[in-house]
Amino acid sequence: MFSPCLSVNEQGHLSISGCDTLELAHTYGTPLYVMSEDEIRRVCRCYVQSFQTYYHGNGRPIYASKAFDCMEIVRIVLSEGLDIEVVSGGELYTALKAGAPGCRIHFQGNNKTLSELELALTHEVGDIVVDNPGELDQLQTLARAMGKTAHISLRITPGIEAHTHDFIRTGQIDSKFGTDLQSGAALALVERALEMDHVVLQGLHCHIGSQILETEPFVHAAQVMLDFYGEIVQKHSDFTLSWLNLGGGFGIHYTKKDRVLPYETYMEAVSAAISEKCTALGLPIPRVFLEPGRSVVGEAGITLYTVGNIKEIPGVRNYVAIDGGMFENPRYALYRSDYTCLIADRAGEAADYIATVAGKCCESGDLIQEHTRIQTPHRGDVLAVLSTGAYNYSMASNYNRNPRPAVVLVSHGEHRLAVRRETYDDLIRCDL
Ligand code: LLP
Repeated sequence: MFSPCLSVNEQGHLSISGCDTLELAHTYGTPLYVMSEDEIRRVCRCYVQSFQTYYHGNGRPIYASKAFDCMEIVRIVLSEGLDIEVVSGGELYTALKAGAPGCRIHFQGNNKTLSELELALTHEVGDIVVDNPGELDQLQTLARAMGKTAHISLRITPGIEAHTHDFIRTGQIDSKFGTDLQSGAALALVERALEMDHVVLQGLHCHIGSQILETEPFVHAAQVMLDFYGEIVQKHSDFTLSWLNLGGGFGIHYTKKDRVLPYETYMEAVSAAISEKCTALGLPIPRVFLEPGRSVVGEAGITLYTVGNIKEIPGVRNYVAIDGGMFENPRYALYRSDYTCLIADRAGEAADYIATVAGKCCESGDLIQEHTRIQTPHRGDVLAVLSTGAYNYSMASNYNRNPRPAVVLVSHGEHRLAVRRETYDDLIRCDL
């Protein structure tokens, strides 16, 4: 097991943070998202500690709530000292309701609506990350009308190609996110912001992609962004950057094949590059922010299912159908993402049955994994999929009018509900 919260107990069952997964499935039903609070807190502390070690506390981690968003996760992460990043009015509302003060919220998005910006200004969000010139103008007009001052960062596209899935790469020039550096558009955006009377430019932001398993792109991004800071200061000597936000993107284990670096490795390499670059350019070192999402919650989560029909097509494949599917985990259908699956009832046994784990949606592409090794399955077994803590619950839908599963938090052998299972009545709640 690659996540420290997972083990096989004396009964041979998969256990998470001291809780038997079969008991969890029995108590709460399946499909079920299970999140280890212990593991989330461990990773948060690891990030907070790294900021002490490598930045002497001059910076902080920000949890990208899009990875897994519900009030209890926000409360846990806040209590560990992380700020919260949101990308929509809904995520902003969740963070506020969970008790996040505006000053600890960072608001991203390439096309925030007027009402979302208004909500952010009303609650004095401490960092509105402005994506482009149109948004900057809109924010200035709105802030003036509301008698507010917007504290902002600018989202810059640094032109860095990271090796990850095309859909989750964001730092390259051809991107819907941010304002491009190379063409001079980013400098023009800075100058425009500096002239505004209801906008205070404090930070620069970039995010180069997600599930990145190497340090070089992060180091490169930091260097490019600081060169840009140097370029701004050359023209505007009184400009001081309060913070540099280098986004998220650190990769996690989905299978044993993933070569995952400890977060400290990234932190060490990036902090060394920052201090070297600032010294070379004669710049003060800004506060450094990182925005991890996947790495905070990904390995802390598993999903439990009940095995239903098993269809063995000789010479073709063995379909093992579960009571979930693309409605609660769309990542294989979307990105062909790897996952580790196992039969929780016999987690310690050899995995020598080759299965295609299929969902229950009315769609052939509704698969969780193809040709993967699991223990020989039987109807009624509990099948577990590991590393589902990030971008599963948050990307779930009601496709085929399937209710979204419940979310259970586990810690030191105790369990509690964080999000209740949706009911059929929830499904028709908005229907007129
Ligand atoms: N900051 C910004 C501005 C982002 O766009 C993202 C992710 C993050 C931080 C957090 O990145 P992380 O540490 O989680 O890699 N649905 C895809 C992932 C999309 C990521 C979008 N942005 C997936 O399931 O793999």
